[in-house]
Amino acid sequence: CAVTVETRSGTFGFDCATGETLLYAGLAHGLTLPHECATGTCGTCRARVMSGDVEVAWEEAPGAARLKRDKGDILLCQTRALGDCVLRVPSDVAERPARHEIPAPRLGVVGNVKQLTSDVVHFEIALTEPMTFDAGQFVVIEAPELEGGRAYSMVNYGRDLDRLELVVKRKPGGGFGDWINGPLASGANVKVFGPLGRATFHPDEGHDLLMIAGGSGIAGMMSILSRGVRDRYFEKRKAKVFFGVRTLADGFYLEDFARAIEAGGGNVEVTLALSHEDAGRLDHPEFPTVKLAHGFVHEVAGQAMAGGYDNVMAYIAGPPPMVDGAIRSLIIGGVGRSAIRYDKFG
Ligand code: FES
Repeated sequence: CAVTVETRSGTFGFDCATGETLLYAGLAHGLTLPHECATGTCGTCRARVMSGDVEVAWEEAPGAARLKRDKGDILLCQTRALGDCVLRVPSDVAERPARHEIPAPRLGVVGNVKQLTSDVVHFEIALTEPMTFDAGQFVVIEAPELEGGRAYSMVNYGRDLDRLELVVKRKPGGGFGDWINGPLASGANVKVFGPLGRATFHPDEGHDLLMIAGGSGIAGMMSILSRGVRDRYFEKRKAKVFFGVRTLADGFYLEDFARAIEAGGGNVEVTLALSHEDAGRLDHPEFPTVKLAHGFVHEVAGQAMAGGYDNVMAYIAGPPPMVDGAIRSLIIGGVGRSAIRYDKFG
C-alpha cells in the first residue's frame, strides 16, 4: 500500500506491506515519525487518517485512551494499512534520523535463557542480520505464541552485532516473562524491530552521567556503562548509577557493576537502592564496591545528588511511576529537561 503522511514539515510517502504497522513501515523508510514505546502504551505516535482504510491491531491499547476515534485518530504503532491511505501527523518529521541507525525488521533465534533472580531472566537473540545501535536503545520483539510486541533495551553494546543481550522482569500473568521462561522459548524464532529509542549515550557530548533505573530498566544503563568502559570515557568523566530493587536478593548484574567500578578508577559509583529492606549496612556483602541505600531509587538519587548536577546528563528507565518520580526530583533539583533522557515502556 502507498502511504502519504502530511506533517508540519512537509508531505512524505512510503510503502507499507500487508501486516506491517504504519509506524514500523515509516521508520524503516527513514522517516522520523513520532514514537516512544512503539508498543501501544505511550500515545506519542498519534495520527489522523484523512482517507483510506486501516485496521487497528490493538483496540484497547493504553496509549489510545485519549484518541478521538470518531475523527479518525489512530496510533501508528497499532495500525496497519488495508489499502493506499493519507495520514496527518501533528508534528515535524524529517526524512532521516539525525544520528541514529534507521530501524529495520530482522529475524532472530532465542538462546542462553538464564534466571538472574527469582523474577528476572536474561536472554539473548542471535540475529540473522547484524544490528548497529547506540547504548541506551531498545528493540521490539514479537514471539510466535504471543500477541503484539514487547520493548526491551539492549544490555550489551557494539557495532554490527549479531547477538543482542536482553533482560526481562516477570510480572504476575506477564506474557513475555512467562513465555521466555517456558519450554518453547529456547531456540524459538522471533521477529525483532529496531533499534529504537532516543535515550542514548554519545561520548562526544562530554557529560558526567547520572543513571537512575528500576528493575529491568537497568538494561540500557549496562549498555551505557559498557560503552563508557570500552571507550575509556570514565578516565575523564564521572558516572553515578542508582539501581532500584526491592531487596538485596533482587539485585543483579553485580559482578558487571564491580568490573565497571574497577575500570572506572574512582569515577564510577553504583548504589543499590533497596525499597523494601534495610540491609543495615552501606556496602554490598559480596561486592563491597557496590554501595547500599534504603528507600525508593529516585529519592535516594535525589538526596545523594543534591546540588551536584553540573554538566550532568541524566538517564532514567523503569516502571512509569518511578520514571515520573525521578524526572520530578531532577527538575526540582534544577536539572533542565534537555539534560534528562528516558524512554517509558509502560
Ligand atoms: Fe505508539 Fe507509544 S509509540 S503508543
